[in-house]
This record gives sequence, C-alpha cells and structure tokens, in this order.
Amino acid sequence: MSRIVIVSNRLPLTIDKKEGALHYYPSAGGLATGLNSLDEQIEKIWIGWPGRAVKSSTEQEEIKKELVDRQLFPVFLNKKEIERYYEGFSNKTIWPHFHYFTQYTTYDNQYWKYYQSVNQRFAEAVIEQLKEDDIVWIHDYQLLLLPALIRQKFPTISIGFFLHIPFPSYEIFRMLPWRKEILEGVLGADLIGFHTYGYMRHFLSAVYRIAGYEHNFGRLTINNRLVNTDVFPMGINYEKYAFPPNVESSLFQQNEDQKLIISIDRLDYTKGIPQRLRAFEQFIQRYPSYRGKATLMLIVVPSRSNVDQYQDLKNEVNTLVGRINGEYGTFDWVPIQYYYRSFSFEDLVAIYQAADIAMITPLRDGMNLVAKEYVASKEKSQKGVLILSEMAGASSELSDALTVNPQDENDIVEKLYLALTMPNQEQAERLQKMQKRLKKFTVSHWAEAFIHELLDLQEGRKKVYTSFLGSKHQYQLLDKYKKAKHALLILDYDGTLMNFHKDINAVSPDEELMSMLTQLTNRSQNKLVINSGRDHTTLDQWVGHLGIDLAAEHGVWLKKGDIWQVNAGMSSNWKKTVRPVLESLVERSPGSFVEEKNHSLAWHYRSIDRDLGAKRVREFRDVLIYLTANLDLQVLEGNKVVEIKNAGVNKGKACLQWLAEKDYDFILAIGDDQTDEDTFKALPDEAFTIKVGDEQTAARFNVQSVAQVRELLRLLCNS
Ligand code: UDP
Ligand code: G6P
Repeated sequence: MSRIVIVSNRLPLTIDKKEGALHYYPSAGGLATGLNSLDEQIEKIWIGWPGRAVKSSTEQEEIKKELVDRQLFPVFLNKKEIERYYEGFSNKTIWPHFHYFTQYTTYDNQYWKYYQSVNQRFAEAVIEQLKEDDIVWIHDYQLLLLPALIRQKFPTISIGFFLHIPFPSYEIFRMLPWRKEILEGVLGADLIGFHTYGYMRHFLSAVYRIAGYEHNFGRLTINNRLVNTDVFPMGINYEKYAFPPNVESSLFQQNEDQKLIISIDRLDYTKGIPQRLRAFEQFIQRYPSYRGKATLMLIVVPSRSNVDQYQDLKNEVNTLVGRINGEYGTFDWVPIQYYYRSFSFEDLVAIYQAADIAMITPLRDGMNLVAKEYVASKEKSQKGVLILSEMAGASSELSDALTVNPQDENDIVEKLYLALTMPNQEQAERLQKMQKRLKKFTVSHWAEAFIHELLDLQEGRKKVYTSFLGSKHQYQLLDKYKKAKHALLILDYDGTLMNFHKDINAVSPDEELMSMLTQLTNRSQNKLVINSGRDHTTLDQWVGHLGIDLAAEHGVWLKKGDIWQVNAGMSSNWKKTVRPVLESLVERSPGSFVEEKNHSLAWHYRSIDRDLGAKRVREFRDVLIYLTANLDLQVLEGNKVVEIKNAGVNKGKACLQWLAEKDYDFILAIGDDQTDEDTFKALPDEAFTIKVGDEQTAARFNVQSVAQVRELLRLLCNS
C-alpha cells in the first residue's frame, strides 16, 4: 500500500504560546476533524501550517521535533505571508467569492503574489518529503495551485485534490482575474473531488469555458493526461458521536416543557447567524406561548479574527443578542444563551444530546459536519429535529431534515414551530433515515473511496500506457514494414493527419504532409489509401493529384487509380426528408451548419456551446430514430459531427475493397474517431491498428496526438 502525503493549509494541531511555553491544540473546522479519523492502518504523513507565526529558528526546530513523532511536518509562514496569503487571498478573496459573497471579494495583486509564492513553498515542503510511490492528497481552497506545482517536479505521481467549500457557478468564478491560473493549478491533479454534484458541475463548466477543456462524464484529457472529477460527500466518525465515552448529559437536564434550540458555527458570515437570530426573534413575537420555554443556545467559535468582515460580524451578533435578550428576557428566562468560544468534544456531544432542535441555516456551506454530528448524537434518544439550510452541502444527503431557505426568515420561523410541535414518532422516523445513511457513509468511507478511486486511476493509467505504441512495438512495426513485399496503409484524415479547426475548410494538407504522402505513395511496395468522412470533391482537390487511392464520405465514394465510383446501391432520395430536420437544428443552434455531400448529410456543431450541442444531439437522435426506421439509413456520430447516410456502408466496408485485391503482408491503419472503429474491426488481427487519443478502442495501439502520427509517418518515409 502506498504512503499518503496529506497536505492542507492547517495541520490538525495548532500551536499556541502561553507564558513562554508552547502548547498544542486540535485545530477547529471540518477538515481537520474529518481527516484525523482516516484509517490508522494507512501510513500517512501530514504537511501544513501549525497555525501561528514562529519567528525564532530554535523555536521552529523545537516544534519540528515535537511534530515529527506524530508524522506532522510544519510549513512555517511569516507575518506577511499570514496576512497576505492566509488572511488575504485565501480568506478575503477565494473564501467570500466561492461562497457567493462577491461584495466581500478583495481583488489585490499583492495577495495573489503571496498566494502563488506560499503555494510554491508548500510545493517545496512536499517535494522534500516525497517518494516515487507516494500518493499526494491536497486539501482545500488555500492550495489551489499546488497540484500543478508538484506535477511539474513529479510528472507521473498520483495527486488527488479535494475542495471542501462550494465551487461557484461559472458566472461568479469568471470574475476573478486569476481564474485561468487557478483552474490550471487544480488540473495538475489526477482526481478532483467535491462534496456535491452541483459543485462539480460548476467546476467542469468553468474548465470548459475558461480553459477550453471538454469533459466526458466528468473525465478530462489534459495534454494527454487523464483527469477525473467526482463527488465524495464527506461523512463523520459515526460511532464516536453515536456512542461517545465520558459524556455528562446530566449537565443539561431540564423540564419536559423547556425546549433547547442550538446553533453552532464558526463566526463566519457564510453561516447566516444574524438571519437566524432575527428569525428567532420573529418566532418569539409570533408564538408568544414559547416565551420562557424555548431557549436558543448560540455557540459561536472564534475564527479568522484579523479579517475585517469577521470583526464586523462579531459586533453585529453582539448587538443582536443584546437587543433580543434585553427586549424579551425576563427574570427567569434569557432567550439567547450566547457563547463566543469553542467546546471540547465531550461538551459538544452533551449539548447535541440535550438539544431538542438544531438550527443550522448557513447562507452557503460546502458541507456542514455539525448537522451530521447532531443527527448521530441522537442514536440513543431518537429525539430531536434538524432544521437545515438547503444551501449546505449536507442537505443533498439529509433530505429528512426540515429544510429551509436561510434567507427566508418566515420559512425559518414556521419550520421552528413545526419542529417544536413535531410528534416523537415522526422525529424518530426522520432521524433513523438520516442515521442509516450517516452510519454507512462515514468519514473513513469518504477517505477510502477517494483514495481507491485515485489508485484505480493510477492502475487505469498504467493500462493505457501499456497500449500506447511504445518503442518496442514501434520497432516491430518498422521492421515488418521494411521487409514487406505488399504494404497497405489506411489513414484517416481529420484528427489523424491534421488537427481539427473550427472552419472545416481550413485544414488543407500542409507542405510536410504533402511531401510525406508523396513519398509513401511513390514507394513501389505500398498501397496508400486515405479513408475519410470528407466529401469526395474536397479530398480530390487536396490530394487527388498525388495518385493516392481514396475512400470518401465514410465509404460511399471510392477512388482507385483515377476513377471515382459510388458504392453500389446508393440512393439519395431520403435527403429531402432529413434535410429540413437538420436545417431546423441549425436555426436553433447558431454556429452549427449542415454539410451536404453527394450521398450523405452532416451536421457540424464544433462551434456551439458544448452543453447545447449535447442537448441538440439527444433531441436529434430521437427524431432520427423515427425517420431512419423506414429509410434504411445509418447515423454516425463523429467528433462534433453527426452524419446520416445509407446503411451498410462504412469505413470498414470500404477497406475490404482494397484488402480483397492483394495478399498484404503489412497493414497499418490509423484513425481517431468512432467511425474509424469500423476500419479497425474490419482488418485482420495482425494489422497494426492505431487509435489517436486514449479512449477505449478496437485498435491494438493508441498514440496521443496528430504530432505523434506525423512522427511515425516520418519514420516510415525514412525506412
Ligand atoms: N467543533 C468543535 N468545537 C466547537 C464547535 C465545533 O470541535 O466548539 C467542530 C465540529 O464538531 C465540526 C467542526 O468543528 O466537526 C465544524 O465543521 P463544519 O463542517 O460544521 O464547519 P466549518 O468550520 O468547516 O465551516
Ligand atoms: C473550513 C475550511 C477549512 C478550514 C476551516 C477552519 O472548514 O474549509 O479549510 O481549515 O474552515 O478555518 P481556518 O481559517 O481557521 O483554518
């Protein structure tokens, strides 16, 4: 089993100095608590910041020594770096922006510079520890550039990245001046994980629109490297909350008619604390019978106190609590019990157990583990109601909570009333459904699922590498070619000999290609065939004069010697039925167009939005199935083109025309898209069939690019 190198901004231990002595505390927040419970069997080291500036080098050494026994490796940040990388770019730019608080986003180039240089420092710290077989798992928004920085030094190492906060919609993300660099940083990873499908969808949309990479079911190919994106909702250590040792629940014993509502978050504007307080005030106004009976325990954990908005929020919360307590409090009832501090695990669980209701209403939250911990803590009592914001990642899993729109105070008030009056039976039923899920999808399940997928990708990558045409097979190919008496070379054109272009007429063969095709066709042992989906007139114009044999329009037209012939039995009467369907498609999809060939019609959609293209293809397919049922047509889906032509003719069938002519002792076929698969399948097993790209194929080998095809042709020419 490989060793896992975890990298996060914060180590799971934070250092503090009191009365001259160093103290070590567990770090707050979902990330640290979650990863700490990763399977102990797995060897892991953790690299990150110990949470405070440490100036003296003797103190740094002392800390390093203390941490190394726990497999923790500190990255020390100086005051400026903390101010500009951590408080600055991480928490004044990315954090608000990714949580849709664009009014708080600071656009500051100094912050960006520090973000880059601290990410570089982390890269160096990782590289110092890294061994070839390690797996690197990078966490969260403070280290978005790190995957690519490590990839530069270790091109084949497995790197995973997990984002613990939301990824915003493209419209929000695109506002960042550094959007492209950020995406390219993350794309250095092999696996990119998110809490919800929504975040993943936004990420893929941004990658497509900003960096230009398209995905296929969440998979991207970047410079011939496969990058996968997937959803892994983070869970909790269920047992720990359901069956906690040493918890004094008697601390909170109260009368049956007293109701305890809890609210627990870090002090953060994303958590919707003022909105929640105002909703609670409205509740006691609207339902006065609960005055004296329902108390809100408001726990606010100090966080990022050097960032202005957090200080402002603290003042706002203080004022609101003071006002509500002042206005509605009585001698024996304080409506809001306010704690601005953090609690130990044991106290926290006692609070969860005692609470009748948890009111968790963030305006945006990547996941929210407190919601899950509350539900798990109800394992014994089966009593309690969770009110959960639909803007928290957790709400996509906890659908049996009472969900609220956190901006809608009226909604919160009514859900609070519903929760307070919910029969015990219903409370238990809802809790049990949620507990069932949480028991299964624990934090270890989360971490293991992520690591397994990363390992599977590594395995998959090895397999693709083994089918890539390596030097051994290339040597065999050239050797056989040199010795062959009769060699058949079948080459696709677009995406194989020439790269794609938006304008399909802009890819006439360049000088080098013309020269190579001439050399290959002039070699007396060779028969060279270009087997393309292009219309026969264009092909003829471009390469017809070289004396090459041609198969055009996916096997409809064949040219042997100087004579073009149409494959027998072709009729084009069907075109008048299909053409209007394609034309209406063009009208509704600006940028696409119809290409009319003698015996086929093709709809090209390379220039239209990817999602619109996919939607149109789906609609179009349904209509075509109906139309082609009576017309004996086939529909070929190529690379951003759908082509309709008579059934029974394809590139593979076209090849048979040449195969039947001679006993070839060397056959080579190269192609890049789905229509070339017919060619690969039609040829004998010993043929050298090569697919351009790393998708699954019937070909024996893959090469990565047109450039590699050209390289191979050069070698053939020189043989
Ligand atoms: N937490 C804690 N002590 C406290 C309050 C909270 O240890 O006094 C923990 C809590 O158990 C949870 C984490 O802090 O595991 C908060 O994670 P969450 O995902 O809810 O929010 P985040 O802080 O990551 O935004
Ligand atoms: C959230 C973030 C974490 C962060 C934690 C505490 O959970 O996703 O990356 O560690 O908050 O914030 P802090 O700024 O104190 O590390």
